[in-house]
Amino acid sequence: MSGIAINRRFAMAASALCAAAALTGCGKQEPGAASAPPPVPARVLVVGTDAAYTPFESQNDKGEIVGFDIDVVNAVAKKAGLEIKFVNTPWEGIFNALDQGDRDLLVSAITVTDERRQTMDFSQPYFDARQLIAVRSDSPVAKFNDIKTLKVGVQNGTTGDEVVGKLLGKSSTSIKRFESTPLALKELEAGGVEAVVADNGVVVHYLANNTAGGFKTVSDAGFPVEKYGIAVKRGNSELLAKINQGLEGIRADGTYAKIYASHFGSESK
Ligand code: ARG
Repeated sequence: MSGIAINRRFAMAASALCAAAALTGCGKQEPGAASAPPPVPARVLVVGTDAAYTPFESQNDKGEIVGFDIDVVNAVAKKAGLEIKFVNTPWEGIFNALDQGDRDLLVSAITVTDERRQTMDFSQPYFDARQLIAVRSDSPVAKFNDIKTLKVGVQNGTTGDEVVGKLLGKSSTSIKRFESTPLALKELEAGGVEAVVADNGVVVHYLANNTAGGFKTVSDAGFPVEKYGIAVKRGNSELLAKINQGLEGIRADGTYAKIYASHFGSESK
């Protein structure tokens, strides 16, 4: 082999190395950092959320996605060194979008259930909720069982849908399923349903901000406590670990409590 051929091969190999290192700047390594591999640029993770769920997630007049969940996940991402962006994702397709890889994680006031655990993985819980019944102020309804004979609105595929399905029968024609919780509550206002069962935080917020006092809430101790979790694709343990680490971090440094107080007024437990 001639010297020229060797030199050319060396030059090609060297330029390939330079191309690979282009992101950090070839040949500009700090002295002493020679053995550290160049950091892989982080991919922006896509967070799916059904932004029709005030105060957890909604779109403001500028079209930005805002809310408690958004603040929590932004803080978690910052702690864990993750780059994220939120994409409004209708509830009905949200789990499928995660499974297909169109979303990397979901935050959407999602209750961790055994059934959902079969198809996705959840972070440590970050919020406690319960179902709550909304009815007209003059309604005689005093407990969950009292809505058994009524027309009931729920958001399709939610835990509210599930509990009502258990009481009225899953295929009961008295259950009216809506694409979003606000739509179910609007139908209550319009008189098309006589009760709505949904997550307490959302029901309380809606009634306080949208109705002129014509409606009330009815709680029932029989509703189990629900825990919201951040969902990742089943088996994505690396991302899950980072999210959990971020959650721990924002609880430990007081960020979580601040976010909680800014949305719900009082300090969380
Ligand atoms: N917590 C309930 C569930 O997991 C309802 C969540 C609905 N969330 C939303 N952003 N629409 O079924």
